[in-house]
Amino acid sequence: MANLLDRLRRVQDVAVEGKRVVVRVDYNVPLADGRVADDSRIRASLPTLENILERGGVPILLTHLGRPEGKVVEGLRLDPVAQSLGELLGKPVQKLNTCVGDEVTQAIDEWEPGSVILLENVRFFPEETANEAGFARKLASLGDLFVNDAFATLHRAHASTLGIADYLPAYAGLLIQKEIEALSRLTDSPDHPYVAIIGGKKARSKLGTLRDLVDQVDAVLIGGGVAFTFLRALGHNVGGSIVDESLFDEILTISEKAKEKNVPIVLPSDAVVAAELTDSVETAVVQIDDIPADGMGLDIGPETIALFREKVATARSIMWAGPMGAFEFSPFSAGTAEIGQALSQSDAFTVVGGGETGEAVKKLGVAEGISWISTGGGACLALLRGKSLPALEALRD
Ligand code: 3PG
Repeated sequence: MANLLDRLRRVQDVAVEGKRVVVRVDYNVPLADGRVADDSRIRASLPTLENILERGGVPILLTHLGRPEGKVVEGLRLDPVAQSLGELLGKPVQKLNTCVGDEVTQAIDEWEPGSVILLENVRFFPEETANEAGFARKLASLGDLFVNDAFATLHRAHASTLGIADYLPAYAGLLIQKEIEALSRLTDSPDHPYVAIIGGKKARSKLGTLRDLVDQVDAVLIGGGVAFTFLRALGHNVGGSIVDESLFDEILTISEKAKEKNVPIVLPSDAVVAAELTDSVETAVVQIDDIPADGMGLDIGPETIALFREKVATARSIMWAGPMGAFEFSPFSAGTAEIGQALSQSDAFTVVGGGETGEAVKKLGVAEGISWISTGGGACLALLRGKSLPALEALRD
């Protein structure tokens, strides 16, 4: 992947003065009470926007928010995002109510120097996710060049991430460059031992990553909901924990592969269990095979935390994707907090893969000291697995 960085066409290498620059950002941020609840992705886009503004370019921003499925969804309009962006950038943000048409061309013609134009949620148009060529051409007609800085959306081949690059010279923004620089330390020549920590609610979304990472890492530690499906597939009793039986065959295949490669898959030996997921529920710590039928495993237990901490302490490279438990509820946050703390104290090169895990380490106050917190979830994992991403390919020579 380091080679990939060398071959990227970079925003800082192209003259933007007086040019209309269509910038694809990823402002798919959580909202709460009509406000942006986590502005990390907006903050991460600022260097590229400042770079374009300082050099006299006209930034015309495109992003999606949520999955409105090609329809206008009032709760997914970008007004709260515009508000947050304006505060963070300290510059006027002109937010429009659509992405194409006269309203947009007029706003661009009347652009006030130093300001940015933010188009409406691009996924209000069904043509976006369909990567429809006519729509991509319309988006391209708004600009003189295209800069993609939406790292977290690189795994999507959509009109605003891929199709548009057929009609405009396309460059990588500064965030994409930084993400690739960090992640390529893990894909190209990681220091060993390289340990992957996998968690999160849904096993389904992590199995592909696990299958591919077994080729690269020296050990895998599994927590979160993923662990219970794994444990059940391997014949353990997990009581009333949530499991996805349809994944058992694939899990057995991955376990076999790991054995052949001599890569230990370390599963929890104890868990914090409860009958329901609330902040005030009564909890117990039990050995994995003792989880009662009316109890669910909702966090890794203290014995598992100690074991995972030992593995983290001797690792030289670590990637972590997926919380260790239902961290949003205080009785089940210790596993995620302690693993986060172990990473932040480690001298290894440590990467936290996007979305929920990034949010968790920030919320639990253990983000400091982690080498790189990716803004991407699916995109980050796809790159770490060694997948080629069409929207990224479109930015290189
Ligand atoms: C993300 O949050 O991972 C990206 O913004 C992509 O969103 P999507 O999964 O809805 O395409």
